[in-house]
Formats: sequence, structure tokens, C-alpha cells
Amino acid sequence: ELFVKGTGETTDIVEKEMYTFIDKGGRSVTLRPEGTPSVVRACLENGLFGQLPVLKLSYIGQMFRYDRPQAGRYREFWQIGVEAFGSADPSMDAEVIQLAYQLVTEVGLKGISLELNSIGCKRCRPRYVEDLREFGKRHVDELCGKCVERIERNPMRLLDCKEERCRIVMKEAPVILDYLCDECAEHFAKVREYLDLLDVPYAVNPRVVRGLDYYTRTVFEITAEGLGAQNAVVGGGRYDDLVELMGGKPTPALGFAAGLDRIVASLEAQGFEFPIDEGIDCFIAVLGREAKPVALKLATSLRREGFSVEMEHLGRSLRAQMKTADKLKARFTAMIGEDELKSGRITLRDMKSGEQRSVEEGEIPYILRRGGFSDGADAPS
Ligand code: HAM
Repeated sequence: ELFVKGTGETTDIVEKEMYTFIDKGGRSVTLRPEGTPSVVRACLENGLFGQLPVLKLSYIGQMFRYDRPQAGRYREFWQIGVEAFGSADPSMDAEVIQLAYQLVTEVGLKGISLELNSIGCKRCRPRYVEDLREFGKRHVDELCGKCVERIERNPMRLLDCKEERCRIVMKEAPVILDYLCDECAEHFAKVREYLDLLDVPYAVNPRVVRGLDYYTRTVFEITAEGLGAQNAVVGGGRYDDLVELMGGKPTPALGFAAGLDRIVASLEAQGFEFPIDEGIDCFIAVLGREAKPVALKLATSLRREGFSVEMEHLGRSLRAQMKTADKLKARFTAMIGEDELKSGRITLRDMKSGEQRSVEEGEIPYILRRGGFSDGADAPS
């Protein structure tokens, strides 16, 4: 119900892509296909809208859509989402769009393009939708089967059909920007002015209409190089009527979601070097049963201090244990055997330099944190 109402009854998401099933308690359950209606509902149920005049939220999580899988399009995928509530001012559009742009540029994506449009409001859009429907009817013979259905149900969707024949027809279709009321036109001009001010490069594309029903006025998409057909890494826009539609007070809002899987895929395609797993801080080699309790306590106390630690549990030879330490890319190896138990000290080996020293247990965290033995006061003779 949440997504039927929020995302929209005639959207692809609701018509075909929701994972909806009945759970063992007989309840209808849907795996969320997107985050925006959920965020609005959470704010309404928890009274968040009243707490700050402008409320800004973000989330990261998996979304689920039953779509035909292909490169860059998965049935389970991750989104980073941002939603800002409370202001209808174009300065907030600019702020949110700038954030989306900064996100994709700062992670290092190349070949980015930001496409911007306004799809008007409930006052000016109906006239456009009507003209678009008339246009669709005149070209019904040239459109694909899905688009023929869209003419009645949701003509705006004619504009983002991927079929070549529909794209050719739609090149001649009326353009929403010619239908904007004065307020929407002024809002859009201001958004562009602010984006220019912030040096955010964009192209106005009147064919960007987005596939979800709640949008009003500003909509935008960011695409990146190296992704093939599914190249949108960010999609977003204003949704000034959604909070009211879901039972709240009229609250202007806008936001976006970035597709994390696509960002990673695009970085991979562009040859980005992901940081390599750096290995653990310390491996504890255990020689003999009596050493076990000391090792176990040391591992626990080092982990409490935030270090990543592994220890020997298999009672193997020192050689075999050192091999494991190498495999785990341990920065240090602590060795506990007969000598250490007698002296109450621990032998610590710097795995990079090969240097080995006998140290007090209490010194180990300092040495691990420093990343090496020091030649200063705490170095044992
Ligand atoms: P959306 O355009 O449906 O918008 O999705 C946003 C982004 O999620 C897309 O640009 C894409 O990167 C990624 N994405 C979508 N579907 C898939 C998929 N099947 N596989 C991989 N990645 C995918 C929304 O979801 C809106 N809730 C955004 C929003 C927030 N608008 C306002 N606030």
C-alpha cells in the first residue's frame, strides 16, 4: 500500500517490479523497491517533521526490484539516499543537486553528465499530459505495445521508453518546459542560476521525466561512463505533494538516490584501483598448551583496544603458524612459548622489517599503534 500510494500505481515499479508476498501471519509484505515513501512514512509516524523547520536525512540500504537482470541492473541493489524536507526554495534544490554531483565526482567517477528538467506542478502539468496523450493517439501505429498502453494510463512514460521506434516518434512530442506556469518557470530559472553559481555543470533535457509518480518541478539524473545501457548512477527530484498525499501537512521536499552497485561497476570499468585489504594488526603464535590462556587473554585485550587480531588454535609448529601470519598479512606476530611464560615477556616480530624484540605485554598496544618498534625510552634492551 505504501508504494502503490507513494511511488505510484502506474509506475513500472508498482505494476511489475515489487517483491510482494504473504508472510506466515497472513500479512502482505513487500521488499522495499525504493526508500522515499518509507522515509516519509517514518517521519510521519515518529513526528519528525515538527522538530526542525528543515529536516535533512540520509540512508543507505538494499532495495529490491523484480526487473529483468542485466549489466548494472540487479534485483537486489544498494542505494545511498538523501531527502530534504521543509523548503520550497530553489536554493534547496541547488544544495541537494550539488551534493549529488559532489558525491559522484569525489568518489572519482569519470564522464559524468548531469541532466536537469522541470516537470511542473499539479496546476500546469495536466495540460501538458493532455497534449502528450493527444500526440500519442495520433502516433499510436508507430509506438511499441507498452507505449500504446501508456497513452491512457501515464503518457509521461512515453518519453523515457527505450525502444528506438518510440524514441524517434517522441522527438517530435510537445516539450514540458513550454507548458510551465510562471511560478514553476521562475523556480526552474532560479535552480539553474544557483547551479551556475556553484559551478555544477548540467544540461537541460526535457525528456528526463523520471519513472516515479511523486515528482514535481525539478527532476535530475546523473549518468557516468563505462556502464552501457544502465548508466544512471543518481536519480532524484522534488516531490512537494508526497507528504500531504501520505497524510501529513503540506511539506515541500526533494532528494535523490545514488546506485552504489553502479558506482562501483563504473569505477571498475574506468580502471579505478580499489584499496587492497591491508591485513590484520597482529597474529599470536602459541607454542604449547600452557601458552594458550596467555594468548587468549592477550588477543581479547588487544581486540578491545580496536586491533584486528588472530591467534593459533590448531597447536601447529611455529613454522606453520608463521606461514599463516604471512597469509593473513599480519603487521606483527606475538610469540608465546616456554621462554616467554618463564620471563613474563612476549616476543614480538615486526613482519615488515623482520626485527624481533622481547617486550612487556603492556607495551604491545603502543607498538601496534605506532606501527613499529621505537628506539626511544620504551624500547627494551
Ligand atoms: P531511482 O531512479 O529509481 O530513484 O533509483 C535511483 C538510482 O538507483 C538509479 O539511478 C540507479 O543508480 C539505482 N538503481 C535503480 N534500480 C536499480 C537496479 N535494478 N540495479 C542497480 N541499481 C539500480 C529512486 O529510487 C528514488 N527513491 C530517488 C529519490 C529520492 N527521489 C527523491 N528522493
